[in-house]
Amino acid sequence: MSMDYVTSRLGSAGEEQRLAFGGDYNPEQWPEEIWHQDVALMREAGVNLVSVGIFSWALLEPSEGVYEFGWLDRVLDLLHGNGIRVDLANATASPPPWFSSKYPASLPVTADGVRHSYGSRQAFSANSPEYRRAAAALTQAIVDRYAGHPAVVMWHVHNEYGCHNQPDFGDYSAAAFRLWLQRRYGTLEGLNQAWGTAFWSQHYYSWEEILPPRTSGTWVNPTQQLDFARFSSDALLECYRAEAAIIRAASQHPVTTNFMGSSMGLNTPIDYWRWSQEMDLVSNDHYLVAEDLRSFQELALVADLVRGFANNKPWLLMEHSTSAVNWQPRNIAKAPGEMIRNSLQHVARGADGALFFQWRASRAGAEKYHSAMLPHAGTDTKVWREVVQLGGILKKISEVAGSTVDGAQVAILHDTDARWGSELDSHPSSDTDILAETRRWHDAFYRAGITTDIRQSTDDLSGYKLVVAPMLYLVTDEGAANIEGYVNAGGHLVVTYLSGIVDANDHIRMDPLEGGGYPGAFAGILGVAMEEFHPLRAGATVELSAYGSGTIWSELGRTTTAETLASFASGATAGSPAVTRNSYGKGLAYYVATTLGGDGVSELVGSICASAGVNPAVPDIPADVEVVKRSKDGTSWLFIINHSGTEAALPVRGTELISGTAATGRLRVPGSGVAVVRLSGTA
Ligand code: GLA
Repeated sequence: MSMDYVTSRLGSAGEEQRLAFGGDYNPEQWPEEIWHQDVALMREAGVNLVSVGIFSWALLEPSEGVYEFGWLDRVLDLLHGNGIRVDLANATASPPPWFSSKYPASLPVTADGVRHSYGSRQAFSANSPEYRRAAAALTQAIVDRYAGHPAVVMWHVHNEYGCHNQPDFGDYSAAAFRLWLQRRYGTLEGLNQAWGTAFWSQHYYSWEEILPPRTSGTWVNPTQQLDFARFSSDALLECYRAEAAIIRAASQHPVTTNFMGSSMGLNTPIDYWRWSQEMDLVSNDHYLVAEDLRSFQELALVADLVRGFANNKPWLLMEHSTSAVNWQPRNIAKAPGEMIRNSLQHVARGADGALFFQWRASRAGAEKYHSAMLPHAGTDTKVWREVVQLGGILKKISEVAGSTVDGAQVAILHDTDARWGSELDSHPSSDTDILAETRRWHDAFYRAGITTDIRQSTDDLSGYKLVVAPMLYLVTDEGAANIEGYVNAGGHLVVTYLSGIVDANDHIRMDPLEGGGYPGAFAGILGVAMEEFHPLRAGATVELSAYGSGTIWSELGRTTTAETLASFASGATAGSPAVTRNSYGKGLAYYVATTLGGDGVSELVGSICASAGVNPAVPDIPADVEVVKRSKDGTSWLFIINHSGTEAALPVRGTELISGTAATGRLRVPGSGVAVVRLSGTA
């Protein structure tokens, strides 16, 4: 079961597949006469899929066990009558006030011991038995009523798990955490070893002594913090599993929950790699950081990551915004055309549709300043015209549905545990940032026109010519062995500083008798032995003998078997290797011991790509022109998204689907424009 199931149900008779187009539809915020205008305008814009009922619990269940489905019956019938399909929510994301006031112990508790009130949304602990019971009952009631409704084509469990309410440090979670730890370690001795409790007199003699990492005088045991992050993700996953199981017992439609994969949202308490295994199709919500002048590159990074979660299968962009959001410091509106470019970037990188939060801009509530497909100002607006235009474009390019972004030659590794581990407190420098480092490397490939997959350290890497591990701080034994095997067999690997430093328990990888040096897991592959971290002062740079200068980090150490490509040339580490290359097995392994500037990363990426035989989809791609290829059954489509203000010309032959014109060798894409070309010849 997959995205194909949905896209093959979105068109009218005779159409094979349609890309999904629509958004969250919250008709309960409006009087019923508005609903008729809604569906008329949805038809005008070409909307074919809406998510309904996400925050409707309070209206669907006005008191415990009493359900009122009449209004939702009428909404679904109206949508069905107009050929609009529904991604139906089970409405468990926000328990109503009657529930929270009746079961106050279900409310989540912060690390400081403050119990959250209700009055916003997502006010529950994942480990509350009252919440789980009520969510299961509501899910069952909704599925009983709507599993057979002809408008429904997929299920939307909950909404953005982990948003606002996690982790919960209360007593329910403390009890569940102990059980989780017992399953993980078996014995208290095992836990004491893993947590390194010989340090600071933390030895545990009874399971009852163990707590969530609540606020303490100073740094709480780091392995305890890491395990609590893993546990908190698993606790929510249990909620998802239980609700999905109820749905699957009664319905064939695919089940998903929407991820929060954006550069801000990536730092969520959810291990999306694990969760993805449980999705019938992966769906994601993405919002630009409006201040970010290269937000389109961040979008590309996140879309590549989500495609990784989806294991390269088509995925669904469940939410993005037509223009401004309401939750950033300055909610900057999108420029003309920006929304269309954003939507098509997601599609280029594997999404089989573009949905928005939300259909009609709210009049009341905390999100009334959030943009929507239908703005407050109505249809005589920039946003509405672009929505209609986008609907038309998605229809014209619908033949790409079901195709995939195959054949990336480069993988960037990003493990959830490496992120969580690297973000723990009491580390060498508060300036080290795995997401920023990952983005720097992704940006260098993006600028070079090279599509990258994002993978985990334990994935099969054998198909990639080049693998980059930016700050893979924590690596498991399995991940380290997989990476070693990749290089040994002939792969090209780049490892940055703060990689392979700790094991799965956040213990330093070292040989206490022999020494040997950092980075423990990879020192042998890299042919280096680094002995001392020298993080830099805030804003300081360190000179390098090549590739410009570095920031944030430097190291004192030496090569063992590697060749030095650049040395630190100033400061306390002058003379130590900064960029190295080592022959290992049949492969090559590079080490980068500082944060290179953008030009330095690009220069290094350029030379490594040349030696690894990595090429862009099309030669000589102009700056800020994004080119990505999707393929299916021997046909390929090239997405060309011009983020620059000037016309771009590319050597492409085929049919440009948006204009319906032939591209006969030199395709011109206007500044800020887009093109989607069905390539002639073989894929
Ligand atoms: C998230 C939520 C939506 C809405 C938007 C606003 O994606 O899922 O309900 O709050 O953010 O950007």
